[in-house]
Amino acid sequence: MARLTIPEIQNRKGREPLVALTAYDFVSARLAEEAGVDILLVGDSAAMVVLGYEDTLPITMDEMLVFARAVVRGSSRALVVGDMPFMSYQTGPVEAIRNAGRFVKEGGCQAVKIEGGEEMAEIVAAVVRAGIPVLGHIGLTPQRASALGGYRVQGRDLESAQKLLRDAEALCQAGIFALLLECVPAELARVITERVPVPTIGIGAGPHTDGQILVFHDVVGLWPRFKPRFVRTYGKADQEILQAVKNYVQDVRAGRFPGPDESFGMSPEILETLKL
Ligand code: KIV
Repeated sequence: MARLTIPEIQNRKGREPLVALTAYDFVSARLAEEAGVDILLVGDSAAMVVLGYEDTLPITMDEMLVFARAVVRGSSRALVVGDMPFMSYQTGPVEAIRNAGRFVKEGGCQAVKIEGGEEMAEIVAAVVRAGIPVLGHIGLTPQRASALGGYRVQGRDLESAQKLLRDAEALCQAGIFALLLECVPAELARVITERVPVPTIGIGAGPHTDGQILVFHDVVGLWPRFKPRFVRTYGKADQEILQAVKNYVQDVRAGRFPGPDESFGMSPEILETLKL
C-alpha cells in the first residue's frame, strides 16, 4: 500500500479530519495503522513513555532513529514523522539539516517535526529547502517547558495569543506542510486554523483544528503516571497486560505452564535408548 503523501495530507484541510498518533515501535505502528491512523509521529515523548525519563530532553538522535526504523517497518500507509529531539536542531541550520536528513535516510521517515515559532523559522526554512517536509509545533513546546513556566496552556492572554499567530505565520512562510498546536485555547486554535493555509493538528487545542494527535500510551491506557485533561483514554491496556503477566507467573509457580500442548515430544525408542 502506498503511503499518504504530503499533498494528500494537505488536501484534507477543512475536508476530512486527519488522525495522528504517536508510535515508537513495530507493534504500536502496526496496530495504529490497522486502526486507520493517517500520521504516525515518532515522538520524543518516547523519552518518557518508553525510556522512563522525567521529560523529553535526554533522548538522543540515535535512540530516536531506532524507534523511527521500527515504526516505518510496522507501517505501510501512514505518513511517518520523526520528532527532532532536544539540541538536534536548535544549534543551527547545518546541524538541523544533518539530523533531519538522518530521520529520512537512516530512519525511513517522510518528514520531521520541529518545535518552536518565529525564532525557529530560519532553521525550519533551511530544512524545507533541503527537501525535507517539516511539521511545525507551537503552543506548549515541551522541550522549552521550563522556559514557559511548566506544562501549561499557552496563548491565553492577548500578547501570547498574538505571538502564537505570528509564530504560525512565520512557520508557514518557512514552508511547513502542517502545524501542530499543543495546549492552546480552542478558540485561538480556530483562529489559527482559519488563518493558515496548512492543516493544523491539535493536542489539547479543542475541536476546531484540521486533525488531532494523542500519545499512543494515553489512548490505550498504558500510561498511568499522569493524565492531562485533554487526553481521552480508550482502553485499559496496563490492566490487561498486568493481569496476563500475573496469570503467567501463577501458572509457572503452580506447574500449570507449560502443558502438553506447549511441549515437544520425542520418539519413545530414542528415549529408552537414552536412558540405558
Ligand atoms: O512527542 C510527542 O509525543 C509530541 C506530542 C505533541 C504528540 O510531540
